[in-house]
Amino acid sequence: MDFRFNFFPDEDESKEPSAQRETQPCSPTGEHIEKRLAETKACIKAAKEHHIPADASKVLENKVLETASGLYYVNMSVVELTCQDGTHEEDIVSKSVSSHSDLIPGVYEGGLKIWECTYDLMDFLSEAEIQFANKTVLDLGCGAGLLGIVALRGNAEEVHFQDYNSTVIEEITMPNVVANCINAGNKADSEDDRKNIKPPSKRRKKSECLPDKLTKCRFFSGGWSEVSQLLLSSSKPWSKYDLILTSETIYNPDYYSALHDTLAQLLAKNGRVYLASKVHYFGVGGGTYLFEKFLEERKVFRSSIVKEVEEGLKRFILEIAFKDST
Ligand SMILES: C[S@@+](CC[C@H](N)C(=O)[O-])C[C@H]1O[C@@H](n2cnc3c(N)ncnc32)[C@H](O)[C@@H]1O
Repeated sequence: MDFRFNFFPDEDESKEPSAQRETQPCSPTGEHIEKRLAETKACIKAAKEHHIPADASKVLENKVLETASGLYYVNMSVVELTCQDGTHEEDIVSKSVSSHSDLIPGVYEGGLKIWECTYDLMDFLSEAEIQFANKTVLDLGCGAGLLGIVALRGNAEEVHFQDYNSTVIEEITMPNVVANCINAGNKADSEDDRKNIKPPSKRRKKSECLPDKLTKCRFFSGGWSEVSQLLLSSSKPWSKYDLILTSETIYNPDYYSALHDTLAQLLAKNGRVYLASKVHYFGVGGGTYLFEKFLEERKVFRSSIVKEVEEGLKRFILEIAFKDST
């Protein structure tokens, strides 16, 4: 898959970045400009919880299902086509297309694609036989949400999904989770399964309960700091995460502080973070070694490389834990 890191948005976008429109209602003039620039750099976006409709199959309307590594996921090109109808306030598909970029800082952070380190981390979780049973898991910067779906399949007690963009949560993450939960038991991993996959035809009645696994899921969009605050102030019972899974989320060093503090606030005392990343993100500046150095300087976490992938651009899986954890 071809990834584009174009950090020079179109002229029109640089005049009025839409992330600022979404997070700051007043116009960016005079004394507000400097504050706005700082906020955009730190990637402030209000947090929101998204709820699965009572009739869960509704989220699969107009979706085409495919499979990868034994999991169902929606065809992203179809989503991209249907999302250009102006019904999504974020309008990230049009913005991504017009700026020729898979990342527009503060506007669109890449969740419409499945990035290759997701597959590295899925392989690692399976090879290392990481146990999910009875654990609370966060798929941080989830995009398609495949890592969280793996945890659900492994009988995690609860799985939460976070993405920066609400469009990604509504159009991709939630449909993927629903498709895998509704089809639980029909593991989508044979060649035959890859052909002619259709969303389940039988509609659940409104009064019907959600499949058991779906009741274990929660979905959030927004910036990391904002989602942490929402969770920490939530009246719903919630316990810190035993496992945080995150793939291709350390490309931009401007976000390291927010990411670090989010991990520190949300990880259980003896929990583990598994983070998959490329060695370096050309044109953006982040990468595995830079993030490790950042962690060292903050002195909160210890980290170690638990897997290296040599083919193509080097990629790593980091295991991160609190310095004083067991
Ligand atoms: C490159 S995408 C990777 C998506 C997915 N994990 C994968 O590997 O396919 C990076 C993800 O990190 C999240 N992200 C990046 N910066 C963020 C920020 N400052 N606040 C919240 N989420 C952020 C976005 O949700 C985005 O989907």
